[in-house]
Amino acid sequence: MSGGPERNTYGRYLQLDRLLSAQQTSTSSDDELLFIVMHQSHELWFKLAIHELECATKALLAGTSGKDCLMAFKRLSRVSEIERLLIRSWDVLTTLTPDEFFLFRETVGRDGASGFQSVQYRILEFRLGLKYRAMRLQTPDGERSIAVLDQTQTPAERAMIEAALAAPSIYDATVDFIARQGFAGISARRDYAARYERSDAVFAAWRRVYEDRHEQPELYQLGEKLVDLEDAFRRWRFAHLATVSRVIGITPGTGGSLGLQYLQAAANQLIAAPLYPELWEVRDAMFSRARTP
Ligand code: HEM
Repeated sequence: MSGGPERNTYGRYLQLDRLLSAQQTSTSSDDELLFIVMHQSHELWFKLAIHELECATKALLAGTSGKDCLMAFKRLSRVSEIERLLIRSWDVLTTLTPDEFFLFRETVGRDGASGFQSVQYRILEFRLGLKYRAMRLQTPDGERSIAVLDQTQTPAERAMIEAALAAPSIYDATVDFIARQGFAGISARRDYAARYERSDAVFAAWRRVYEDRHEQPELYQLGEKLVDLEDAFRRWRFAHLATVSRVIGITPGTGGSLGLQYLQAAANQLIAAPLYPELWEVRDAMFSRARTP
């Protein structure tokens, strides 16, 4: 059989020549490939997670009846599974010892290159609902504020970040959807680029959904899917933190931060100020109710 240029093959469809030639090591270390593959595979999964979140957000924004949110379930489960897979993948990187990493770290991080500059990671955060324009960075010279847009390297990256910041997050779409299911007093958000603020009306709606879960089981499931999502995102941050502690200890990061201290603050921040505050508050309320005789 002759394979002409138009013939579709496994390798051509997946563009494996491009994909598999994109792992260019900068040193002679035999451990650098692991580092590159770990980051690249993260970026690929980030890409899919962002896509799935966009689809789920769109489905909820267009949905009218309770059943319409079923369309979003599969997407949200997929994102949680991607997060879990990424968390599990840290186990591969933890086989890298500090002395092995040292052999290529200074070279690959020489111009301040760091995961801190991952545009897709910021977009993922924004799509999940963690909106901000600047972040506090603990550096060896003290704490300073860094604008997210200043971290971008090209106009295209800037445009992608700005679009994700201005777009409704999955929680914005959820709250919007719940409001259309007849829960009173939920006001529409005007500025999607601002961090979501907790509301009594949204809390009351979720509380009713959870207390009468047999009445609107779809909404109850939707709440649980979002908790799964935020839980997995929190765990990713802690898994990253644990690996960094194991591989570089308290050494400052190549991105200019104090390293562990910055990542610890970022991980704890999600526990102190959840993305979907009313859903966590409902859990607190359930616990108190369960304890009351
Ligand atoms: C040995 C492996 C790794 C080490 C030692 C490490 C270290 C660090 C450090 C110290 C920071 C803080 C910023 C800085 O000063 O550089 C950081 C941020 C970050 N890293 Fe890693 N990292 C590793 C692997 C990864 C991998 C595989 C990814 C996957 C994409 C990743 C994604 C990120 C992201 C997204 C941030 C920004 C987090 C935020 O701002 O909340 N890192 N990393």
